[in-house]
Amino acid sequence: MKILITGAAGFIGFHLSQLLLDKSYQVVGIDNLNNYYDPRLKESRLEILGRYSNFNFRKVDLKDKKSLDEIFSKYNITHVINLAAQAGVRYSIENPYAYVDSNLVGFMNILEACRNYPVKHLLYASSSSVYGGNKVAPFSTNHNVDHPVSLYAATKKSNELMAHTYSHLYNIPTTGLRFFTVYGPYGRPDMAYFLFTKDILCGKPIKVFNHGKMERDFTYIDDIVEGVFKLIDKIPVSNKQWDESKDDLSTSFAPYKVYNIGNNNPVSLMRFIKALESAIGKEAEKVYMDMQLGDVIRTYADVSDLERDIGFKPSTSIEEGIEKFVFWYKRYYQI
Ligand SMILES: NC(=O)c1ccc[n+]([C@@H]2O[C@H](COP(=O)([O-])OP(=O)(O)OC[C@H]3O[C@@H](n4cnc5c(N)ncnc54)[C@H](O)[C@@H]3O)[C@@H](O)[C@H]2O)c1
Repeated sequence: MKILITGAAGFIGFHLSQLLLDKSYQVVGIDNLNNYYDPRLKESRLEILGRYSNFNFRKVDLKDKKSLDEIFSKYNITHVINLAAQAGVRYSIENPYAYVDSNLVGFMNILEACRNYPVKHLLYASSSSVYGGNKVAPFSTNHNVDHPVSLYAATKKSNELMAHTYSHLYNIPTTGLRFFTVYGPYGRPDMAYFLFTKDILCGKPIKVFNHGKMERDFTYIDDIVEGVFKLIDKIPVSNKQWDESKDDLSTSFAPYKVYNIGNNNPVSLMRFIKALESAIGKEAEKVYMDMQLGDVIRTYADVSDLERDIGFKPSTSIEEGIEKFVFWYKRYYQI
């Protein structure tokens, strides 16, 4: 097994790479180390991964088709986990083309490479944001997701459609991973839990959107990577009798599947802030704001497919996970 992880210097890519390297898998990591957030954090993650002899890293952009093809051919890649993407809902309002470049053109290059250098399984990051304006909760992979409310969500949904097409045309087994608000050590500095921690520690007020009336199915990073790891060998098979009137919409006549990976336990924004305050040992000064463009009120994952297929379900509580994050934050930034 030779596993290519794109976005290996990113938050989830780093933790997943480390888990696989600890289990002695051969991992090839690629990342363009862009400056969407502080690249020093990406360097720190890579510094840790670089200590493993079973890890190879190449600084490559997904848009660079030629270099990508060279990697597939040189390393005889058998499995691909595509995590590289322009992440973030809010930034997609500011800089939509970054999403087209990495999430659409970049993903297209991954699909073409998987077609030209056949792999056993392509897993790729989708997102809970594909549920967009859906109201029926918990969100099921059997629900229709044709009503995105941000370009980020639209690119992730597009990835699922593109993957389905390649699964059908070229028989490439693909698994889409809809992650739900992932948090933890070495996390993403653009996300609320990171920004709040920074502001609370230096006595700055935090912005509480939609006046605190929001819920997120926060999922701890260790649960996410455990779920992804267990799915590597769960290769989707085609169901030749597939019938959209009675079969699960997340399966197909093609070797295609989509899973939710979430905690199945939404937490209110105010409870989440309380958990942060208690882990930090300081009360936050709060500024209540209206809802932000592109945002959704609630996310809530139905993970019954995950439980059925791999016997696993995320379970870390917000209090436990936030405690671990704050511990890491203070140590990393020497506070
Ligand atoms: N963290 C979450 O809460 C969350 C939730 C849902 C989905 N996701 C998805 O999971 C994946 C990983 O997210 P993350 O939180 O680790 O984000 P991240 O930004 O920390 O990691 C993504 C990495 O990909 C790299 N990258 C971006 N564009 C690239 C390109 N064109 N070529 C090569 N490298 C590129 C970045 O430098 C970064 O290191 C992303 O696809 C994201 O959309 C994340």
